[in-house]
Amino acid sequence: MADKSQHEDKLLEHEYDGIREYDNPMPRWWLWTFYATILFVPLYYLLPHPFGEGDGNVAEYEASVAAARAAMPEQVAPTVTDEQLVALQGDRAVLAEGKAVYETNCAACHRADGGGLIGPNLTDDAWIHGGSPTQIHHTIAVGVLAKGMPPWERLLRPEQVNAVTAYVLSLVGTNPPNPKPPEGPAPATGT
Ligand code: HEC
Repeated sequence: MADKSQHEDKLLEHEYDGIREYDNPMPRWWLWTFYATILFVPLYYLLPHPFGEGDGNVAEYEASVAAARAAMPEQVAPTVTDEQLVALQGDRAVLAEGKAVYETNCAACHRADGGGLIGPNLTDDAWIHGGSPTQIHHTIAVGVLAKGMPPWERLLRPEQVNAVTAYVLSLVGTNPPNPKPPEGPAPATGT
C-alpha cells in the first residue's frame, strides 16, 4: 500500500463548480495488478491455441454450434431444395396447411385465387424475383419490404413457409378471372 506520508497531496490548478482534484500517483497495488493483466494477455492468447490443449476458441465454438444443430434440427431454419418444394405439392396435408396460411396472410394482397391485387399475380409465368421453387420460397421468406411484401420467415414457422410456397406453386397456371397483368420477366424457355 502507498504510504500517505511519503508524498504531499498535490492539488491541481483547475476548479469546476467548487470541485477540485488531487494529482496523486496511482496506488502501487493497482499498478501491479494492471501490469499483471498486460502480462496475462500473451499467455491467454497463446495457451489455448496453438500451444495448449484443445483446438482453440473458434473450433470449439463451431463444434458446439454443430452439436446444437444436430441436437435440435427443427430449431434451425432448414434449407429447402427445388425438389423438396416440388415434392411438397404432392402432399395433401401440406397443401391444405399452405392454403390456410395463404388465406390468412396472403390473400389480402395477392387475392384469394392468386390473381394479384396489391401484390403481383402469382398464377402466371412472370416473376419479378425469379420463378424457381427456391427463388419463390426465398421471396416469401425474406420479403420485399420496400415494395410492401413482408418477410414471412419472421412471422411463420419454417414448415409454414414451405407449405405456403408449395401452395403458391400449385396456383401457377390456374388462370383465374381478371388477373393482374404479368409483372417481371417470364422464363426465356417455356415451362
Ligand atoms: C401487404 C401486402 C402483401 C402481403 C400480405 C403479401 N404480399 Fe407477397 N407481395 C406483395 C408485393 C407488393 C409484392 C411485389 C414485390 C415487388 O414488387 O418486388 C409481393 C411479391 C410476392 C412474391 C414474388 C412475386 C414475383 O413476381 O416475384 C411472392 C411469391 C409472394 N409475394 C408471395 C406471398 C405470400 C405467400 C404471402 C403470404 C404468406 C404474401 N406474399 C403476402 C405484397 C404482399
